[in-house]
Amino acid sequence: MKKITIAIDGHSSCGKSTMAKSLAKTLNYIYVDTGAMYRAVTLYALRAGLMDAETKHINAEGLKAQMDKVDITFTHDEAGRMLTVLGGEIVEQEIREMTVSNCVSPIAALPFVREHLVALQQKMGLEGGIVMDGRDIGTVVFPNADLKVFVTASAEVRAQRRLLELQGKGDTTTTFADVLKNVEERDYIDSHREVSPLRKADDALLLDNSNLTIPQQNELLLKWAMDCINA
Ligand code: DC
Repeated sequence: MKKITIAIDGHSSCGKSTMAKSLAKTLNYIYVDTGAMYRAVTLYALRAGLMDAETKHINAEGLKAQMDKVDITFTHDEAGRMLTVLGGEIVEQEIREMTVSNCVSPIAALPFVREHLVALQQKMGLEGGIVMDGRDIGTVVFPNADLKVFVTASAEVRAQRRLLELQGKGDTTTTFADVLKNVEERDYIDSHREVSPLRKADDALLLDNSNLTIPQQNELLLKWAMDCINA
């Protein structure tokens, strides 16, 4: 069976990762969560004192000088769940916390950060047989991807899903309003930034999952992938 390249882009918290992971597992493909890579750079900047979490001020020159030291890899636990590794340390939990979520968009808007991560992502996809999710996969990373999907859902539905996820991890302080604000802010920054703004590639298929269950969206995506593999 031919091994294709699948690009999945879309808004934050719309379930892209869930469906991309499920598809990669079914097809036995590599899965790459590029959002985790931008989050890992953000965590690095915060820890190194190169970004202020309150003011969001970034020491861009300092970060640029250290980009080669930002070592991002992936591993997985016994259950097969993918874990992000920064400089040898598993940081999967830290990169999902609100501090990083609130700081990641300005980091992802820095051209040198994008150049660095896009080059890494393109290397990961050289062999095909990959499902990559992000914001610019179909437009910048793999403009010739065999299958491009653009996923979306309403901001309220996405905020509710993210809140449940945080609560499931024991967060009792974050409110629906906090998460909705974060989702809306990130939508705005992600689609208005100068470098690689979030947009649907002309040849991407649109998947609005506001009213779809996870099994329904997985089924639809698998059908599109199989149609593409068998074409
Ligand atoms: O998918 P996510 O919420 O984990 O992504 C985190 C941030 O990284 C989000 O604000 C958008 C940004 N991002 C990006 O600019 N390009 C990508 N390919 C992936 C994520």
